[in-house]
Formats: sequence, structure tokens, C-alpha cells
Amino acid sequence: MASNKSLLVLPGDGIGPEVVREVGRVIDWLDRRRAVRFDITEDLVGGASIDARGVAITPEVIAKARAADAVLFGSVGGPKWDNLGFDTRPEQAILGLRKELGLFANLRPATVLDPLVSASTLKPDVVRGLDIMIVRESTGGIYFGEPRGIETLANGERRGVNTEVYTTHEIERVGRVAFELARKRQNKVCSSEKANVMESGLLWRQVMTELHKREYPDVELTHMYADNCAMQLVRNPRQFDVIVTTNLFGDLLSDLASMLTGSLGMLPSATLGATDEFGRRPALYEPIHGSAPDIAGKGIANPLAQILSFAMLLRYSFDLADEALLIEQSVTRVLASGLRTADIMEAGTARVGTSVMGEAVLRELDKLGG
Ligand code: IPM
Ligand code: MG
Repeated sequence: MASNKSLLVLPGDGIGPEVVREVGRVIDWLDRRRAVRFDITEDLVGGASIDARGVAITPEVIAKARAADAVLFGSVGGPKWDNLGFDTRPEQAILGLRKELGLFANLRPATVLDPLVSASTLKPDVVRGLDIMIVRESTGGIYFGEPRGIETLANGERRGVNTEVYTTHEIERVGRVAFELARKRQNKVCSSEKANVMESGLLWRQVMTELHKREYPDVELTHMYADNCAMQLVRNPRQFDVIVTTNLFGDLLSDLASMLTGSLGMLPSATLGATDEFGRRPALYEPIHGSAPDIAGKGIANPLAQILSFAMLLRYSFDLADEALLIEQSVTRVLASGLRTADIMEAGTARVGTSVMGEAVLRELDKLGG
């Protein structure tokens, strides 16, 4: 039996706890059937933490996250906390974790599974077989740049300020993640910014070009302005393999890319930090979808993005590629069998709720890996 791996589970708000529960069943399955054991600690984040502790995430929870081998995050936020100021909103939990743990590379895959090819609003011919990886810088740029704030001017007018700022090493380290990933995929990186209007974008382009020349000449590198990239993603998404981009553009482009698949409820993500001298790398895994307060508590949320996030966790944090693949294949087979949660319903399929979907994944796991 391999040594235990420590996992901090942060279900959060809305549908978070419901979909994380289904991952718990997958973890139990692995525990029973394979040589993987987890020491699991659960804690509060987001609105749940605000209600109980007054803040979206406490320093203790941040410390636990830092100590864990990996963090599995659900989702945070909801109308109940919508009127809070920036510094106290539930979103501070995820922004705080990214910043405090140095989780600078946010990996957001957009893949179209064959059984879901007609779930996209785009024609099946455009998206069939789509497999894109967006690498979004996630601890810098305009999300964190100074100065920032809202001030009142002498004439009584108000002025809101945010600052887009990137340094060489911030660009290089996220670039490396993208190039390394590309080498294991189709070997293509498209770097996206607005070098035509922004100095930070120009620097981004220069640094990526130099990094490519110096360390990754074997990978194909192209550059694309972010607005064009948005357009190309809709026009011909399969031209892309890995896209690497800034925090803000990555936020936009990854939402766009996710909808190419037609199923936000299906998409996982990983956010990785730097590997330290002992080979440890902080990492957080979460679905791309939010807390979906409108359907929370009804037992109808799609647990697959959360389950696939856990598969990414196995792959990137624990080198358990076989187990990750087993889970991914089980998910595809469940979908091929015609089961659907409400968000991915189509004619001729059977509608099921969260826990039936989770059970179906376990059944396929039994068949494939039992
Ligand atoms: C995301 C979300 C977050 C972001 C919010 C919740 C702060 O939109 O992860 O894409 O903007 O980064
Ligand atoms: Mg977003």
C-alpha cells in the first residue's frame, strides 16, 4: 500500500457540497480497490466560512491548504453574500488561496467528449474531438496589480483604478508550464495578449518569444491578440492545442472555451504552484462552474466536473495517470449510456440527479477497474 496522501477538501457553497460528496464516493472506491489512500480533512470556505467565522477563509485554513499534498475545492458564493465589499466576499477564498499558495498556473481544459458533441451550441463538425488546454496566469496581472481602488476626485467625480502588471519571471514560469504541457500533447502553444495596445502585453510577447527560443525550440509557438483569439476559438477551435494567457484574458477565454463544449458542468481545472526543493508542488483542483445557487440543495447538479477535477488531482499531484484515466473513461461511458443531469440533457437521454450520476460512475469504475 502506497503511503497516505493528504487532501484538504473545501466544499464551499451552493452545489459545492453536493458535488464534492460524489467525489467522496470515488475516493472510497479507490480506497477499497486500489493502492491509493488519502488522509482527508474538510473545512469551510466562502459564504459558509463567512457565516461561521466572519471571513471567506481563515489563516488556519490557508495553513492547512499549504500543508496538504493537494486541495480539492468545490465552489463559493451566492446571493446571500452579494452585497459584501470586495475584501470580504466569498470569492476572496479562491483568490486568497491562489495568492497565498502561489498557485500561478491555472489549467483549464476544454474537451468535447463524443457522447456530448451535440450539447455544444456550435455545429458538431466544428467541435468534434476538441481538446484545448488553456493555461491562465492566476496570481498576477490586473487581478492583483497596484495601484487599485476607487477614489473621489476634487471635482466630486469618482475614479476606479486597476493596474495590469507583469514581470519577466511571472511570464516565464507560466510559459514553462504551457510549453511542458504542450510537449505531452500536440506540441503547440499559442500565447495570447494585447501587445498592440498594452506594454504589459508587449513584454509578455517578448518574454514568451525569448523563452521559446532558449528552452523550447522544439515546440511550435504562435502569438495571437486576445480579441482575435476569442474570435478564432469560435470560428475554428480545433486549431489550438495549448493557449497561454494573462489572468484577465484567461478568465474570459476559458469561459468562452468552456461553452464550446456546451457543458460547463463537465469541466474541471487545476491550479498549480512552483515545485519546491523537496519536489512538492502546491495544487488546487476545482470545477469551472460556480456555486449555482439557483439549483443548490435540489440534488440535480452535475457532479462530473468535480469528479473530473479529482481525476486531474490524481494525475498532476500524485502521478496516478492510470487511476485518472479510469475515472475519465468511466465518465465517458456513463454519458455514452445515455444518462444526463439536467444541464446536459438532450432528446433521447435519461435525466438523473446528482447521486444517481455519481453511482453510475462507480458502476463503470467497477466494470473497468474492479
Ligand atoms: C474563475 C472565477 C474567479 C475569477 C472569480 C470567482 C474570482 O471567475 O475562477 O474564473 O475571476 O478568477
Ligand atoms: Mg471566471
